[in-house]
Amino acid sequence: MSMLQVSLEDLIQHPGEETSNAIRARAAAVEPRSLRTYTSSLAVIAKSAGAYHWTPEGRKLADFTSGVLVANLGHNPTRWWRRLLEYQGIDNITTDQPFLAAPPLTAYNALTELEVRASERLVECMRSQPGGGRMEQVLWAASGSEAVQKALWAAMQRKPDCHHILATRYGFHGKKGLAGAVTGSEQDPERDPRVRFIDFPMQQCIDLEARRQPLDLTPFRQQLEQLAAELPGKICCLITEPYLGGGGSFHPQVEYLQLLEQFCREHDIVFILDEIQANFGRTGPLFAFTHYGIEPDVVCLGKGLGNGVPVSAAVGSAAAIGTMKYGAGSDTWSANPLASSAVLATLDEFEEQDAIGMGLELSDLIERSLLRLLDTGLIEHVRGEGCVWGIACRAIGGLSADQVANACVRACYLGDDNGHAIHLLGPLAGKVIRISPPLTMDLGEAEAYFNAMHGIFASLRQRIEAEAK
Ligand SMILES: Cc1ncc(COP(=O)(O)O)c(C=O)c1O
Repeated sequence: MSMLQVSLEDLIQHPGEETSNAIRARAAAVEPRSLRTYTSSLAVIAKSAGAYHWTPEGRKLADFTSGVLVANLGHNPTRWWRRLLEYQGIDNITTDQPFLAAPPLTAYNALTELEVRASERLVECMRSQPGGGRMEQVLWAASGSEAVQKALWAAMQRKPDCHHILATRYGFHGKKGLAGAVTGSEQDPERDPRVRFIDFPMQQCIDLEARRQPLDLTPFRQQLEQLAAELPGKICCLITEPYLGGGGSFHPQVEYLQLLEQFCREHDIVFILDEIQANFGRTGPLFAFTHYGIEPDVVCLGKGLGNGVPVSAAVGSAAAIGTMKYGAGSDTWSANPLASSAVLATLDEFEEQDAIGMGLELSDLIERSLLRLLDTGLIEHVRGEGCVWGIACRAIGGLSADQVANACVRACYLGDDNGHAIHLLGPLAGKVIRISPPLTMDLGEAEAYFNAMHGIFASLRQRIEAEAK
């Protein structure tokens, strides 16, 4: 079968990967495919360190995804692990007693000081940033969708008979519950009728040049005012992302987010910024709200917050998230001490090493390298900031853009002749390949992998053209 004809239905197998192929086949037998987001490489990972993964066969893959923007500090940083275990009080297991005396791995009907320390540190850290003045309380959760859901629930409780939610079109806030309801657009006929959408300036930030142009706010202002007139006093909150992440990497002009904030202030609406994939240095600063010049009422955090340990949170003003009754925001895993230890270890690392500075240097290299990819003819647009970029593939040689994007992902996984293989996500929004390595990736090594990527794209283009003839 030609490399470009792989069907989504097929069991993914790669040449020369006997152990990985066997593991892929075992997974396919006992797990539904819905569990995974389709990625044509479906890497099997035996271990990870820093910016690299290793397959069971010992093949090294440069991770250009950070495990969906989670390992911002890199995978398994030694000092971070040491700190996490120290917080758990289990850094040196020498006892042969059957149980360790350590913090519990539950927080449901009790409280640990670890949890409170994590809340205090997070609030303190966010309040010290420009635009963080409203950060007062932390509503913990375990996944991004849950943090969004809790932020929305809280906003809906704030005033009686005020239950409508505004969301920006084609955003991604998760798949579950209300997080799913504010994702995408009104095209879904099952859509929760309380959710209304307004445009996000996608065309106006289609690439770096477009984003440099000032944005005409008039159509967006009109849409907002029209909804305010249609639903007087009934809009409880507005939720948006600093940039459309899952929606295809669209980074708006700052004035767009500032307009949304201003509208919320004028109409007493809770302004929720979903930073779940942007937080902890992804867009440059520690939190994206700081360089968009806005002061959200609630900021949703996740992914990089625990550098790999599942934890998320809605952080905000007491007025916005402190309104629910006992139990309304509780569940089994939220505020789990293991998650609290991970958050504390992550905050320690960002305080003590210049991960932000490293990310900014890497950002320059990523921008240069991705713009160079344009000359392969496979890429239509390059968009991004900090260490989160998207390259939109071009339909070419009789193939659709998503087929081209999948072929690129797969070719990068297989690597070049010098063994430079790259781990990527399946395309976003059908045709956008996301580039988001850990902020701590070595610059020289990153450059070598970007050069390899250029070579892979160039030879893929030749191959696509040859197959089309
Ligand atoms: C901005 C944003 N919000 C929410 C989510 C949902 O997070 P989770 O997959 O942990 O539920 C994501 C996941 O990609 C995201 O990017």
